[in-house]
Amino acid sequence: MRKPILAGNWKMNKTRDEAIHFLLSVEPNLPKDGVEAVICAPAIILRDLVKRSEVIHVGAQNMNENVSGAYTGEISPVMLKDTKVEYVILGHSERRAYYNETDEKINLKIARALEYELKPIVCVGEVLAERENGTTNKVLKTQIEGAFKDIVISNPDNIVIAYEPVWAIGTGKSATSAQAEDACKYIRELLANLYGAEVSDKIRILYGGSVNTKNIDELMSMPNIDGGLVGGASLKEADFITLCKGCVK
Ligand code: PGA
Repeated sequence: MRKPILAGNWKMNKTRDEAIHFLLSVEPNLPKDGVEAVICAPAIILRDLVKRSEVIHVGAQNMNENVSGAYTGEISPVMLKDTKVEYVILGHSERRAYYNETDEKINLKIARALEYELKPIVCVGEVLAERENGTTNKVLKTQIEGAFKDIVISNPDNIVIAYEPVWAIGTGKSATSAQAEDACKYIRELLANLYGAEVSDKIRILYGGSVNTKNIDELMSMPNIDGGLVGGASLKEADFITLCKGCVK
């Protein structure tokens, strides 16, 4: 019922030429249906990707919550909309850690993204100390309730959550499929409390954190995992294709 998503988060990687090369070699080899392939690329190459992509959906990695104004270096929702970008990652742990993004700020960004018909990929997840002291669910509850405070969801198909335990990102140490499923299931329960089960059942929840071609099948066998948000492995053409194929249930 929920169409899986394989979203590549390229972070601060790939020049325009590298990105176009990737697109041309990957697109003909992607599954024809059963998965939505997304690339979240650096802002400066988004327009090139939007123009050239035929299969891959294009997303940004961040967005300012304001529409315009004196915010040097920032990109507004109006600009992303004008670029015909479809998705935007919000609240990635690197943004939270290095750029002080709070749940309040992420909440404003989600509201603005929806206002401009951009589909948010909202990232949540605990750090290692929180996992170890047993507060993972408490952290997820605070993050989800904070991010979605007063947010009206009129189309659940347009909302994506990514559960990304911070200790698993870029470390090669993925969560086990059971840990990932537990967290994604809990996130779905939190969403059901906020919006009702019917809405919650339609929202795609991805797992992210050292997803690779070896663990994708097991992760995807879990009932509440609807795809992956993938950093490192999404940069490699062959891996991206394998990961997309692995998402077809
Ligand atoms: P990773 O990154 O796949 O390299 O662990 C995931 C992410 O940060 O979204």
